[in-house]
Amino acid sequence: MSSTSKNIESVLVETRVFPPDNRATQGARISGMAAYEALCKEAETDFDGFWTRLARENVQWTKPFTRTLDESKAPFYQWFGDGELNASANCLDKHIGTPTEDKTAIIFEADDGAVTKITYKDLLTRVSQFANALKAQGIQKGDRVIVYMPMTIEGVIAMQACARIGATHSVVFGGFSAKALQERIIDAGAVAVITANYQLRGGKELPLKAIVDDGIALGGCTTIKTVLVYERTLTDWKRVEGRDISFTEALAEVEGQGLCPPEPVNAEHPLFILYTSGSTGKPKGVQHATGGYLLWAKLTMDWTFDLRPEDVFWCTADIGWITGHTYVAYGPLAAGATQVVFEGIPTYPHAGRFWQMVEKHRVTIFYTAPTAIRSLIKAAESDEKVHPKNWDLSSLRILGSVGEPINPEAWMWYHRNIGHERCPIVDTFWQTETGGHVITPLPGATPLVPGSCTLPLPGIMAAIVDETGKDLPNGAGGMLVIKRPWPSMIRTIWNDPERFKKSYFPEEMGGTIYLAGDGAVRSADRGYFRITGRIDDVLNVSGHRLGTMEIESALVSKTDLVAEAAVVGRPDDVTGEAVCAFVVLKRGRPSGDEAKQIATDLRNWVAKEIGPIAKPKDIRFGDNLPKTRSGKIMRRLLRSIAKGEAITQDTSTLENPAILEQLGQAY
Ligand code: WT7
Repeated sequence: MSSTSKNIESVLVETRVFPPDNRATQGARISGMAAYEALCKEAETDFDGFWTRLARENVQWTKPFTRTLDESKAPFYQWFGDGELNASANCLDKHIGTPTEDKTAIIFEADDGAVTKITYKDLLTRVSQFANALKAQGIQKGDRVIVYMPMTIEGVIAMQACARIGATHSVVFGGFSAKALQERIIDAGAVAVITANYQLRGGKELPLKAIVDDGIALGGCTTIKTVLVYERTLTDWKRVEGRDISFTEALAEVEGQGLCPPEPVNAEHPLFILYTSGSTGKPKGVQHATGGYLLWAKLTMDWTFDLRPEDVFWCTADIGWITGHTYVAYGPLAAGATQVVFEGIPTYPHAGRFWQMVEKHRVTIFYTAPTAIRSLIKAAESDEKVHPKNWDLSSLRILGSVGEPINPEAWMWYHRNIGHERCPIVDTFWQTETGGHVITPLPGATPLVPGSCTLPLPGIMAAIVDETGKDLPNGAGGMLVIKRPWPSMIRTIWNDPERFKKSYFPEEMGGTIYLAGDGAVRSADRGYFRITGRIDDVLNVSGHRLGTMEIESALVSKTDLVAEAAVVGRPDDVTGEAVCAFVVLKRGRPSGDEAKQIATDLRNWVAKEIGPIAKPKDIRFGDNLPKTRSGKIMRRLLRSIAKGEAITQDTSTLENPAILEQLGQAY
């Protein structure tokens, strides 16, 4: 594979077009571009009526709404604000009494390959029992609950049970550290943590409950009353009396209780908070509402994946990320799909695991991240035995990509080797903040161009503008915005409405237009969108969002050692971007074995502070950092050094030009 910079070059000259064939258009929910355009037109001519219709058709309301969009407090938009519903009822109860009730909701494949299936009816029973257990622990509507769980049926049950009683969940990815967990518990003011004793990944048993204990022990988690522990393995775990309770015990306490009635909540009631990185050190608690989010989760399943009753849907994302919220925990269930939930990792016991699972479960819709595709390409190229040609992939109908730009080389490989040149690839652009897809091809309509997320979904008024909010013509690069609100958009940043306004609704653009934080350009011929990457200090490593400031804060918090640190991203063939840290030590610039040892220590330190995904790949030591005379770190120079590029930029404002050469050297 060529380097990412070369890939970016090839996107610029991409001319290949793949129109959907008859198999894709026939019977599709949105069949052909005329059907797509008609929906867009409907949204443009009657915005309110469009969303009113969709919300009535796709959501079951316990109290119908009479107001669709309320802009009076913009940018704090409200959708369906006087309506009431329950998200769990819309995912489970809704199917009872229909043929879907006996359909398999989840095909769970464990790390070791063991398969468990659960029907919609049984899932409702399990969610209901667990919801009763949460209530018995004193958890109530409006409370915040942290979910720190492995990818399991129980993980989905935990989220659904919170939704059922009106508690707001905040899922923390199982790879995050005790410190990250503590920060989220405190910020959310959570009353409980739902966790597991251990998680199984890649044949290893990794602790979760012990990390919860460590997080709480760091202090300040005064709101936590209960820790519920799912015993994923037989291994013992340490119990804090009066606080901890196992799932088995909690369920035993409510045995014999009937169905837990779903608690109706206002459409704007916070369904969940999900923390994500921004351009400052502190993660943002992205708050989503119930009604609008659920509508879009269901509708994008139908539109983007052209979901049909016989489909077997598989989204490989973890429930700890937004993709796992919308396209594992809510969307597939709201749409009545059969889905695969996978506990393990793509490379265990071998790098053909994904393809083997597609064959085994006859998966029809497969949705994954470019970073996974790139790593599996590498594996297939170096070992014939894990090449996808060894498995029968004929069940596949639609492929999806999410999380970062997919380079045309990876797109073509996915198209040929997985899709056998007959499956449309939907390159879905969206964000934690958008709640669901916003710019994506439709499999039965959109002609595909490798590396492009193509066109906005109907009702999403995406555009590319300059700093003042003025529209730019096709071919001109600018900032991606969404000009009108949409139902599944972020409602606020938990505890920080000012930051919400500042981050997403810049005054210079009038204060009501959503700024995505990505650069983008539209193609001259089709007006297709291509995302060029973040315009803020946010990195995308393996489809995971990391703030450079967050990693810098972690590094400088090692106060005995580090004087100063600057973090930038550099292109990486597999992970998209890699973390590169420039570090000034208090003791001066180390070399040789000492430098190696300190670099290892710093990597482990970052893993401990944030999580292993944030570990810097490269660490460079210097006597100083390149700064202007006013003391500002010149990050663009650091980005060039990280890439190994010759510095061609103007360095005349630099106070200490000699530093560049030093930082360019590996130890
Ligand atoms: C950022 C959002 C979308 C859910 C998973 C990530 C990048 C996402 C694409 C795509 C190009 C993409 C953007 C965005 N991104 N999808 N199809 N093409 N870039 O959610 O962690 O909130 O990250 O991921 O930079 O802003 P997230």
